[in-house]
Amino acid sequence: MTQKIGIGLLGLGTVGTGVANILNSPEGRHPLVASINIVRIAVRDLQRPRLVNIDQSIITNDPYEVVKDPNVEVVVEAMGGLEPARSLIMLAIASGKSIVTANKAVVARYGKEIAEAANASGVYVLIEAAVGGGIPIIEPIKQSLGGNRIQKVTGIINGTTNYILTQMTKRGTKYQDVLKEAQELGYAESDPSADVDGHDAADKIAILSGLAFGGAIDRESIPTKGISTLESKDIIYANKLGYEIKLLAIAENLSESATKDSSAYLALRVEPSLIPKEHPLSGVNGVNNAILIEGDPIGQVMFYGPGAGAGPTASAVVADILNVAGIKLMQQRGEKSLDPLLSAFSWRNCFLANPREMPQKNYVRLITADTPGVIGSVGNLFGKNDVSIESIVQLDSNKTGAEIIVITHEVSKGQIIDSLEEIEKLTEVIQIAAHFSCL
Ligand code: NAP
Ligand code: HSE
Repeated sequence: MTQKIGIGLLGLGTVGTGVANILNSPEGRHPLVASINIVRIAVRDLQRPRLVNIDQSIITNDPYEVVKDPNVEVVVEAMGGLEPARSLIMLAIASGKSIVTANKAVVARYGKEIAEAANASGVYVLIEAAVGGGIPIIEPIKQSLGGNRIQKVTGIINGTTNYILTQMTKRGTKYQDVLKEAQELGYAESDPSADVDGHDAADKIAILSGLAFGGAIDRESIPTKGISTLESKDIIYANKLGYEIKLLAIAENLSESATKDSSAYLALRVEPSLIPKEHPLSGVNGVNNAILIEGDPIGQVMFYGPGAGAGPTASAVVADILNVAGIKLMQQRGEKSLDPLLSAFSWRNCFLANPREMPQKNYVRLITADTPGVIGSVGNLFGKNDVSIESIVQLDSNKTGAEIIVITHEVSKGQIIDSLEEIEKLTEVIQIAAHFSCL
């Protein structure tokens, strides 16, 4: 008779509970689900009531007990944070146990070390839930798009911030109130500053870029700006001009002109950006995420779906569990399986571009004195720095001054920074109130 595959679950919070709920109800799902058994669970607080039916005797507050348990064959890490999560993953790998993890913070920083250890031990590390919640994106980017020369990955890859921006735009709800809602719905990280300051999206674009461009990414060098300082005024003005504002994570391959060897030269960034309303990413609302990949020869392909929350994330975690369990069951039956994904990590050097060299269109909002010639002075300084302007309009004026909105054509970030430094010194300019990139 076939033995069930023993799972050790690290964490029984939003994601862990979602996973346990699926594994507890195999009826109507893939037949493999019934072959999986949660044998041990780690939590931090043994007294906290749990929202899932679990035999209390398998719960411990020592996660190392779970990893070391001989009945645990696959470790599912759903606790989050860097430590002890990283050490537990490394211990499981060294003990010959495969890992399924939703922890993008660990994968973005230690992915290379983890992949090398897993290759050496011959175990799997599957991370579908780490990016895009329920959207299948890791396997497609790693495997299905493998024949492409990837040029650009543009993602709305943080559910919390997309939920906040959507509610602020469509319902006019206050930032703090929507953030609280996102936390209650289980979308936000335990420290929500990871979401609103853009760090969670930076972890995810590091992971996607590593897979898309075939090399480890220096996570800490990704220029990152979140939404916490965004003013609703800019959302309103952007809308008037035909744009939506979204937190975008962008990775662009600048290699062709920069390197002659196989190294990749990449421009990565996370920042609130204006998206024209006709662009496919502009309609991605609420907790949904989307990842637009541009490659040769595929052209454009977009992946869309729920980017956070218990059900969608557990859907991705359980899919990974089924992959590993399926292979283990084949091995139990003496069948040989060769999975080409294990060898997908043939790393090359990936260099991150100096942020000043990154090309981008820009939205700039200036508060100026309402005097004749101010638009001309601003235009001159952009011209002096070779910044070509797509549109410049005065949208509002009152006793305290006028608001001027400038949309530029694509220029290097350095050109725009230099222009804004000079514009800020103009006597008519009271403040550079906002500056975002645009698609
Ligand atoms: P969560 O609700 O805070 O759950 C974390 C769980 O881990 C809790 O059960 C907690 O125990 C347990 N835990 C934390 N530290 C522990 C320790 N040192 N020892 C033992 N148990 C410990 O977090 P979550 O939202 O499920 O997220 C888990 C992971 O999935 C994170 O890496 C997150 O980034 C990732 N993720 C989350 C989502 C989402 O939508 N929430 C989506 C994709 C990926 P207690 O319950 O006793 O506190
Ligand atoms: N906090 C994350 C988000 C969870 O809001 O996208 C999904 O990774």
